[in-house]
Formats: sequence, C-alpha cells, structure tokens
Amino acid sequence: MNVFINGSTKKLEEPGLSLTDRSYLFGDGVYEVVHIYNGKMFMYDEHMERLDRSLKAVHYSLDIEQVKQQVKTFFQQERPLEASLYLQVSRHAGVRSHWTKDPMDYNIAMWFKPIDMEAIRLKQKNGFPVVTDRDVRWKFRFIKSVSLLANCLSLRKALLQNCNEAILIEDTGEVTEGTSSNVFIVKDNQLITTHEGEHILSGITRKHVIDLAKKDGIEVVERFFSKSELMDADEVFVTNTISEIVPVIKIDDAPIHRGTPGSMTQHLQQMFKDSIS
Ligand code: PDD
Repeated sequence: MNVFINGSTKKLEEPGLSLTDRSYLFGDGVYEVVHIYNGKMFMYDEHMERLDRSLKAVHYSLDIEQVKQQVKTFFQQERPLEASLYLQVSRHAGVRSHWTKDPMDYNIAMWFKPIDMEAIRLKQKNGFPVVTDRDVRWKFRFIKSVSLLANCLSLRKALLQNCNEAILIEDTGEVTEGTSSNVFIVKDNQLITTHEGEHILSGITRKHVIDLAKKDGIEVVERFFSKSELMDADEVFVTNTISEIVPVIKIDDAPIHRGTPGSMTQHLQQMFKDSIS
C-alpha cells in the first residue's frame, strides 16, 4: 500500500516519520477519515472544514489549502474506488521537549485503505452488541486528535466481551459517544442524540443523519441523554464515516428492540444509502 508523506510517495513498510514527530511522542496530531464511494470522496468539504477546526484548536499555523493540495495530488495519483482516506497532520521539532517553539514544523501523511462494503452492509443489516464504559477521555473531544488511548482501551473492553463498540458514559451518567462513533436513540418516534460541544466529536455522519431525518419529518432532539434512557430506548444506533449507520442490538447483555434492528434505524439506513448515489 502506498502512503504519501509531505508530498512524496512511499510504501507503508518504508521508514516514514521521525521518532521526534510529536504525534509519536505526545499524541500531538490531528486527523480525518473520509469515505470514498465509487471514486468520489463523500462529504469531503465537511471533513476538511472539521480538520481546519481541529488544526486551529491545537494552534497549528498551517493553511488547510496546503493540506487539500496534497490530498488532491495523491488522490489523482492513486484513483481509489471503494476506500477510506486516512489523513494525519502532526507537529515535529527534532527534539523531545514538551514545548520548543511556535510554530513548529508539520508532517502531512495519508493513505487510502480499501473498504469491504459487503462486510459493512452485513453489519448494518444485522446490527451488533456493544458495552458501556466510563468516559475517561480529556475534555476537548471536539478536536479530532490522534490521542486515542482511552478510546482504544474502551474498545478493547468491548472486544474482550465479543462486542463491537463501547458507548462512553460520563461519571454524571450522561452518554457522550462511542469510541469511534456517535450514538442515537429512538424513543416514542423521537430521534435523540447528544448535542454538539466540547464533550463529543461533531461527526460528519451524525450531522448528515440529522439532516436526512429532519427532511423526512422525523422529530430530532439534540441533548444529553442518560444511561437509563439508553437502556430503555426503543432503538439505538451508532454512526461513523466508515460504517454509516449500525443498529445496536444489545447493550451490556440487555437486548435492545428484542435484539433486532429497529424500523426507524432501517429507514434512516435506506435514506443514507440513497443520499450517496
Ligand atoms: N472516527 N466520535 C468519535 C470519537 C470518532 O472517532 C468518530 C469517527 C465519530 C464519528 O465521526 P464521523 O461521522 O465524522 O466519522 C464520532 C473515525 C471513523 C476513526 O477514528 O477512524
């Protein structure tokens, strides 16, 4: 697989970034993941706008246009069809020091990874079981930062219990999001999802699902909901760029919607699919 680092193409196995890249030392990097359907990047502008917000939030003085130019060059070179773009921007300074100077230098790295849409469609059809876990992350989750250790450890907990995602809960009992997804519940035909703010990543898929639902006349409420509302929901689903909408059929061993995908979830999945072509 080819990777593109600061304008040069390499093989993934070849040496890439220096050990003093701060994403390696301090998690000082931000990233984006974009879904490519049929050779087209889906909601690319929205992803680049969010990347720009992440860059600004961590004080990178880097023009987003420069990043976009590199994506364009690599995209034209690789011409991916069904794939995801992983794009990471990190800082480096040549030494390990908590801070050196402002601004530092930047590394822009990316690759396209093939996506198995058949496997994803199966997951969307059947749904998956999830666990709940404490949300122990830092408070700035609106930044799409590569500092994802807490997310990874919560996913580890899920996988050890043969589940596919962990839904994160604040110590106050409020649901934030999944380790790599946003969470929606359906109660009495109302669609509820955690409102935007520092406490969650503003998912591009989340926004798209809300827009589709509203256009279809579904009542959408953006607010915190509690773990007990989650467990008591008529339907639950999670969203992200790779998997779109995946029904949650079990949470911590308790079945949701009798362990099957719900009708509003399926309806939204169909609208999502239609919106791609
Ligand atoms: N993650 N919340 C978190 C913590 C995420 O990591 C993601 C996506 C989302 C959903 O955002 P979007 O709809 O824009 O993909 C919410 C990506 C897929 C990842 O880290 O690979």
